[in-house]
Amino acid sequence: MNKLLEVKDLQTHFIMKNEVVKAVDGVSFTIYEKETFGLVGESGSGKSQTCRSILGLVKKPGKVVGGEILYKKQDVVKMSKDQLRKIRGHEISIIFQEPMTSLNPVLKIRKQIFEAFDRTDMTKEEKRKKSIELLKLVGIPSPETRMEEYTHQFSGGMRQRAMIAIALASEPNLLIADEPTTALDVTIQDQIMQLLNQLKEELGMSILLITHDLAVVAQMCDRVAVMYAGMIVEMTDTFTLFSTPRHPYTNALIQSLPNQKGANERLEPIHGAPPNLADLPMGCPFHPRCNFAEELCRTSRPELTDLTPTHQVRCHFLNKTVGFKGTFTPDTKQGGCDGENS
Ligand SMILES: Nc1ncnc2c1ncn2[C@@H]1O[C@H](COP(=O)(O)OP(=O)(O)OP(=O)(O)O)[C@@H](O)[C@H]1O
Ligand code: SF4
Ligand SMILES: [Mg+2]
Repeated sequence: MNKLLEVKDLQTHFIMKNEVVKAVDGVSFTIYEKETFGLVGESGSGKSQTCRSILGLVKKPGKVVGGEILYKKQDVVKMSKDQLRKIRGHEISIIFQEPMTSLNPVLKIRKQIFEAFDRTDMTKEEKRKKSIELLKLVGIPSPETRMEEYTHQFSGGMRQRAMIAIALASEPNLLIADEPTTALDVTIQDQIMQLLNQLKEELGMSILLITHDLAVVAQMCDRVAVMYAGMIVEMTDTFTLFSTPRHPYTNALIQSLPNQKGANERLEPIHGAPPNLADLPMGCPFHPRCNFAEELCRTSRPELTDLTPTHQVRCHFLNKTVGFKGTFTPDTKQGGCDGENS
């Protein structure tokens, strides 16, 4: 499999007068062509800032202060605004959690889809035809009429679908979906996920899927990285993550899910609160909440270590976690691709 995106030791910090928040603190992963890669973790763990960094969308006082983001071997971090604009919304598209933040309220849906065709030499009629096709594809009824409407005339589910249509109009190589369904009810969530899966097959694109929801990971992802305190603490293929998790945090996340097929619930918080990223505890950032913590964990930060070539874990005591067994038995994708230690 060919690499599409390589994130190497990414560091995105919010630099304020009195403190520095390390929202992304040395994150590395690779996304291959035609795969769905999941980023999962509690609120505030750095998922959104990771994907914003990829598109040069980190807002001040945030800044990418280190690392590389190689898209087709070119470093996005070093690109000019113009170069980035050529990629954003064209080769890489993003769907945000809340469609209203990225849809334009004063432009008709048609106009917003047309913008994605700006760089093509399509005629107006071709653009119209393609827009109708896309709206149909994402399940918007009577697209000929609906495309002449404004976003406030759409329901939440329809807006999300419209945003997906806009994101797909440029036939991106990579679709970044940042909690694309959290604001929607469960039935619509499921439909949108199925739609993304279907479109991925049809268009042959890769997806970076950010979610709180492990059930969605199980349903959608080939490989997955678990984030905690701005760092990846475990990364492997989805089947291995659910069947033999090896980081205590991943294990706790899995244990907090109902043990039934198809369960679809938000993660229950683990005891204790997520850490303040401006003032991380010494040693392993998870130690105040970890049932396995020892003295070493309080003083020394573990590195992300290869358990196998396709399974990395950030923990000092991997021998203690051998017995972990996922009790959640979703219909996970078996195998995934042969990711390497990136
Ligand atoms: N504007 C900001 N100023 C200062 N710190 C910020 C700002 N935006 C984000 N952060 C910090 O970045 C961290 C990571 O934020 P991010 O949005 O990536 O979290 P997340 O994992 O996407 O969470 P959620 O699941 O709630 O969306 C937060 O914990 C916060 O401390
Ligand atoms: S390093 Fe220590 S505190 Fe951190 S996850 Fe492993 S056992 Fe828990
Ligand atoms: Mg987020």
